Amino acid sequence: MCGIIGYIGKKDAVPILLEGLHRMEYRGYDSAGIAILAPEGVILEKTAGKIALLEKKVKDVLPSGTVGIAHTRWATHGEPSTENAHPHLDCTGKIAVVHNGIIENFAVLKQKLTDEGHVFATDTDTEVLAHLIEKYYEGNLEEAVGSALSLVEGTYGIAVVCSESPGKIVGARNGSPLVVGVGKNEYFLASDVAAMLRHTNQVIYLDDGEMVVLEQAGFRTTTISQERVSKKIEEVSWNLEMVEKAGYRHFMLKEIFEQPQSLRNALRGRLILDEGMARLGGLNMSEKELRKVDRIIITACGTSWHAALVGEYMLEEHARVPVEVEYASEFRYRNPVLRDGTVVIVISQSGETADTLAAMREAKKKGAKALGICNVVGSTIARESDGGVYIHAGPEIGVASTKAFTSQLAVLAILTLYLGRLRAMSIDRGKSLVSELYRIPEKVEKILSESSKIEEIAKEYFTHSNFLYLGRGCNFPVALEGALKLKEISYIHAEGYPAAEMKHGPIALIDENMPVVFVCLRDSAYDKIMSNMEEVRARRGKIIAVGTEGDTELQKKADHVIYVPETLGILTPILTVVPLQLLAYYIAVHRGCDVDQPRNLAKSVTVE
Ligand code: G6P
Repeated sequence: MCGIIGYIGKKDAVPILLEGLHRMEYRGYDSAGIAILAPEGVILEKTAGKIALLEKKVKDVLPSGTVGIAHTRWATHGEPSTENAHPHLDCTGKIAVVHNGIIENFAVLKQKLTDEGHVFATDTDTEVLAHLIEKYYEGNLEEAVGSALSLVEGTYGIAVVCSESPGKIVGARNGSPLVVGVGKNEYFLASDVAAMLRHTNQVIYLDDGEMVVLEQAGFRTTTISQERVSKKIEEVSWNLEMVEKAGYRHFMLKEIFEQPQSLRNALRGRLILDEGMARLGGLNMSEKELRKVDRIIITACGTSWHAALVGEYMLEEHARVPVEVEYASEFRYRNPVLRDGTVVIVISQSGETADTLAAMREAKKKGAKALGICNVVGSTIARESDGGVYIHAGPEIGVASTKAFTSQLAVLAILTLYLGRLRAMSIDRGKSLVSELYRIPEKVEKILSESSKIEEIAKEYFTHSNFLYLGRGCNFPVALEGALKLKEISYIHAEGYPAAEMKHGPIALIDENMPVVFVCLRDSAYDKIMSNMEEVRARRGKIIAVGTEGDTELQKKADHVIYVPETLGILTPILTVVPLQLLAYYIAVHRGCDVDQPRNLAKSVTVE
């Protein structure tokens, strides 16, 4: 949610900052801006709209400079206009600030600063920072930033430059990610490592309450109150290729097609066939401790919450542990009962989602063990959790999550295997789970090879305004996820339901204009779902079914059938979701939607 980047070095900062913004465009794309420190002072360009517009605007206009900051915005306070785009300036125009997060007490601060004579030019919360820094600036930028931040409540990742301190960028973080990139005679500051991957893979992750001062000659890290902090330089394993489209039309399509590989990465080194067992080193819990776990709470947001719901089915059925799943935004503000023996698992692709992070901190505060299932290595949740598992899906850039979801499911299945084998699962059941897990990537490959058929279905349905998605058991969350994918990227209203619930409301909506997507596998719920299909047919609803390979009966009831290979029940969601991702993708493409950057959404939601 909002991407910030800063550069200081010997090269021209403008192209470096623009490229960095492009890499972080998934974080927000309603307006963008850039500020360069030139001999004549801070030179600023901003615009409403996407980064491509900013690029056009600055071309041949901005002077080259070796120090600058830039921002891509997802509006919170103030509409996405050119005025409200970052960077924001103080009254003198010497100080420029970019910010990711929310200054919660901005109204009080703004009033106070206005009373003191400061003149505001925008509706944003961020502008108070520029004026506060101006107020405290007496020749030392980091001290002024520190004083300003001591008055601020809320979350921030910021980068600040001042034309009176021309060889310097000051960054600080509280609740919003900020990474320092260490290059050769050059330094970067960004919300995400992807923004600087072209230049360096050596990074420092700032923690909350920390600040960094970047200068041509080096950098230093301190607390916001200026006490020295020494930080470790870490190497990022992602490379540039991983954050590029590689010939695909959209990142989302690339990421859907990457799933066989991302699943292999999630499984690698974690399965022991002979013992029907799993190996999960990062949990930081002994087998004895794991046997004592008597309740698991899984908390997450969005697609990760859907993965959590599938996890509930997996863990209860096969590890025999009671599981509750809760939206992180609700969990954090309740007073959940967390007894000894309760483990809280948080699932987050980005590892930065504000509500999920806060839920995890709340759980830890109450003494619970908190485990993270994250994708982004070094993210805040990954660093602050007591232990966890990386899903190793590689960078996910399309705003609608796809490969992270299936990898989260794979990791939940591994966790189920591990806990199950320590408690109730037989070696034979463990072995069959291991061998089926190994086969999952090639089964996903098979589904992907039929993508053109799914595109044909999409062509028939892309003009519809409503969709219903139905499934049962562990494929009920898949129905939710299918509906979410469609909503997110095509703006079609879609709802997911457990199939049996249809008659308690949604059936009222069914007529010839209502396509219903059924996940209807050859399992114990099969006959019941087939009856639900009859009910839809009787009302002239159109049926798209995802079924088990070889099930010809389905063709008699459904208008269209997409087949997935057979696998163990709890692993089916990893397969059934893939056609639903593709269906949503092709429908959105045929509607002419901006698939990778759907309106109003952002990939990493670092505000409440
Ligand atoms: C946003 C994204 C979703 C994502 C959710 C949770 O809403 O658009 O795709 O599922 O955040 O993100 P996380 O990074 O915590 O999994």
